[in-house]
Amino acid sequence: MVGAMVVMVVGGGAREHALAWKLGASPDVREVICAPGNAGTARVARNLPVQASDVAGVVAAARAEGVDLVVVGPEAPLVAGLVDALREAGIDAFGPDRAAARLEASKGFSKDFMQEHAIPTAAYRVFDDPEAAKAWVRELDAPMVVKADGLAAGKGVVVADDVPQSLAAIDAMMVERAHGEAGARVVVEERLSGPEISYHVIADGERYVALAAAQDHKRLGDGDAGPNTGGMGAYSPPPFFDAGMEAFVRGRVIEPTLEGMARRGSPFRGALFVGLMVHNGEPRVLEYNVRFGDPETEILMSRLGDDALPLLRGAARGALDDRAPRWAAPCALGVVMASEGYPGAYPKGRPIHGLDAARAIEGVQVFEAGTRREGDLTVTAGGRVLCVTATGDAIDAAAERAYRAVDAISFEGAQHRTDIGWQARAILGPR
Ligand code: AMP
Ligand code: GLY
Repeated sequence: MVGAMVVMVVGGGAREHALAWKLGASPDVREVICAPGNAGTARVARNLPVQASDVAGVVAAARAEGVDLVVVGPEAPLVAGLVDALREAGIDAFGPDRAAARLEASKGFSKDFMQEHAIPTAAYRVFDDPEAAKAWVRELDAPMVVKADGLAAGKGVVVADDVPQSLAAIDAMMVERAHGEAGARVVVEERLSGPEISYHVIADGERYVALAAAQDHKRLGDGDAGPNTGGMGAYSPPPFFDAGMEAFVRGRVIEPTLEGMARRGSPFRGALFVGLMVHNGEPRVLEYNVRFGDPETEILMSRLGDDALPLLRGAARGALDDRAPRWAAPCALGVVMASEGYPGAYPKGRPIHGLDAARAIEGVQVFEAGTRREGDLTVTAGGRVLCVTATGDAIDAAAERAYRAVDAISFEGAQHRTDIGWQARAILGPR
């Protein structure tokens, strides 16, 4: 059957490629449109030259194309009110409205919300005055984590190793305004330690469906060394996240969050992605994200056995069928290939070779992020270029396939981590 629905995916990364790929496989979907997409989404969807940040442009395009459902990838358009504008225009949209997006847009709001609802998180204080923030750090005499209150493209967090680093971070954010107005207010919080978990649910304001847990690798280098990035690879499921921890997260984090937001009059619809750290064996919330993670989405969509359309459409319409989803692939793992210089400045336009050979490997999907077409070539066009993803019966098997595909791909200056999934392997041992 050729479906009847037209779906638009907003954004241009590997997350959006994975969403477009999965939605395009739905028997109820006639066409997927991406705004603006990339060379990878062009393989599974029709790209429109409309930027994700252009709220009026996306609404106009969705209307002109007769779009039935808009799925918003990145946080910035959500915070700018894209979903509010689409709903006003009578178009179903997957993602929170502006009021619910505050869970990610303001770290101060999210910390106060967690405190109010007794949701486990690091001890903290919010400051508008740099001298008061520094006085608190000196008084505690401990290395603290300093976070810009507003959106800073994933760069507004400094995990300090000592007191001087915490003080320097406060000056950089509040006085020098390294992240502009996002740093006018900061959250200073206790430094936790332990493995990190990405936990996603899809919510319709009231009901929710929990997706499988995943683990991201935020540091650039092997062994979790080097600078923070947007994510260098991920896998699912993390073996140390057991059923007891999951029940704890659902009962102590997800449910109070959804209930608390509904009680405030801003029910949460969309993907709620909670970043957790398992500190002394107990999960604590590091942050809320009001959208799907990247690269987690590439891994989750690869594993998901069910049609994604009813889930996303049900959430958008406030009528979610909250049966647990089916995970067709027991495991999946993705390796990000990034440009030379990333996460700093990087060149663009370098030809990418070997994509077809990689895609021919069983269980492999190469989701594209910063890519564009130049004649017959696919060339680099961003910092994170590809997320090379593979499914498997075990983490090791998925890793073996993913790395075989990575080895088939080349572009000048390409960098990737060679140890994605190391924490799982450390627990499960080699097969
Ligand atoms: P966030 O943007 O809040 O997720 O922070 C980015 C990264 O900083 C997280 O993925 C953690 O690795 C680290 N981080 C954030 N908060 C803390 C904390 N309280 N203690 C230790 N590490 C943290
Ligand atoms: N993978 C982390 C994020 O999407 O924020």
